[in-house]
Amino acid sequence: MRITMVGTGYVGLVSGACFSDFGHEVICVDKDPSKIALLENGVMPIFEPGLEQLVARNVQAGRLSFTTDIAAGVTNAEAVFIGVGTPTRRGDGHADLSYVFAAAQEIAAALEAQSVGASDLLLVTKSTVPVGTGDEVERIVRQAAPNRVIRVASNPEFLREGAAIEDFKRPDRVVCGTDDGIARGMLSQVYRPLSLNQSAPVLFTGRRTAELIKYAANAFLATKISFINEIADLCEATGADVQEVSRGIGLDNRIGRKFLHAGPGYGGSCFPKDTLALLKTAEDYQSPLRIVEAVVAVNDSRKRAMGRKVIAAMGGEARGKVVTILGLTFKPNTDDMRDSPAIAIIQALQDAGATIRACDPEGMQQAAKMLTDVAFVEDPYEAVTDADVVVIVTEWDAYRALDLSRMAKTMRTLLMVDLRNVYAMDEVNSAGLTYVGIGKRDSALSTH
Ligand code: UGA
Repeated sequence: MRITMVGTGYVGLVSGACFSDFGHEVICVDKDPSKIALLENGVMPIFEPGLEQLVARNVQAGRLSFTTDIAAGVTNAEAVFIGVGTPTRRGDGHADLSYVFAAAQEIAAALEAQSVGASDLLLVTKSTVPVGTGDEVERIVRQAAPNRVIRVASNPEFLREGAAIEDFKRPDRVVCGTDDGIARGMLSQVYRPLSLNQSAPVLFTGRRTAELIKYAANAFLATKISFINEIADLCEATGADVQEVSRGIGLDNRIGRKFLHAGPGYGGSCFPKDTLALLKTAEDYQSPLRIVEAVVAVNDSRKRAMGRKVIAAMGGEARGKVVTILGLTFKPNTDDMRDSPAIAIIQALQDAGATIRACDPEGMQQAAKMLTDVAFVEDPYEAVTDADVVVIVTEWDAYRALDLSRMAKTMRTLLMVDLRNVYAMDEVNSAGLTYVGIGKRDSALSTH
């Protein structure tokens, strides 16, 4: 099928590249000429494992190309996917849909300008959009292209940064929202490679339902995280161990083991933004989501509380202390710093008078734009020299097997605060360092 993807962010670029890998002919469109220039030179504008090779392979096979010209991009397309950003609208928490609506308008105007007799088009929103957005997109394209048949469907994306290609090609499910029979048939064709080897069920729903499934999924996952984070606090207060609690409940299939890792709170470009947007929808429809409200509040307060936890571990005083932060991105295998817990943690520590050194395998460039007075150091061993505490904020593989004895030789105070429970207390202790984890028996140093 001839597919055009509008937007080359995480969702747009990964989806476009994967569609071409399925054998479709794909054109990716982006307004930003510098992004398109990079892509045409085989350079990825985002860090995502495996993406560069995937793009190169499909460009070489002649199935994947890039352009800044939306009109040229949609001219021969059978299906156009909108994969542009839907950031939080400044000031009110609603999703900012201006990029989605602008894309719909431009696509329809380009089609309308084409010769009469051109074929129908399937227009699909892949961006995360609040329930009812498809109705508005439909209104926009009807108005801008009254002489063309454009079927509007919703196909939310569930991929995770850092595991995006694997998630796209081996998803738990694909959700397609449309009541139109022809649109359903076309979407079945798009995802045929997945249904052929029965690797993923394709779930057909109404358009509004599909839009809501995306938000409900992210809100539920965020709920699991805030839930286990509060249980971690209770573990510290009561002398239980959150990793064992997590395993103990997660082995119940009705609960499941995933997304029950206690940590410094969720971040990234999705959970924080999507939970807020969902709350706005709930408000608009006067149908409160009190659980999601609590999830957001718990997460917001947790990030700075982690800063206080580090200070408590240092005996309650941060002034004059050197804190080494290992991991800045909101999770490993990405360079994305958006809403990363590291930002609030570092600010809380700086406010209390600490000096910050930080390491991250991919995120230091982005982090430097958001943080001030932080010394960025490539090598973790160099970063801990004369430090009073080493704090693990992001569980990069590079920080999972550190030579702790080597660190102990150069640190000023032998203390590790492990906000991801990467290390076992015994191994850290045997290297001579005091260990403070999350929700651990002996880590009941107060966060409150
Ligand atoms: C999330 C969802 O997992 C994807 O399914 C969805 O497609 C995506 O949002 C989106 O809407 O685009 P992502 O933000 O890339 O994906 O990252 P996750 O792996 O879900 O992690 C989000 C945050 O939760 C991270 O800060 C991570 O450290 C934290 N987390 C995750 C925990 O603290 N504990 C866990 O057990 C799991």
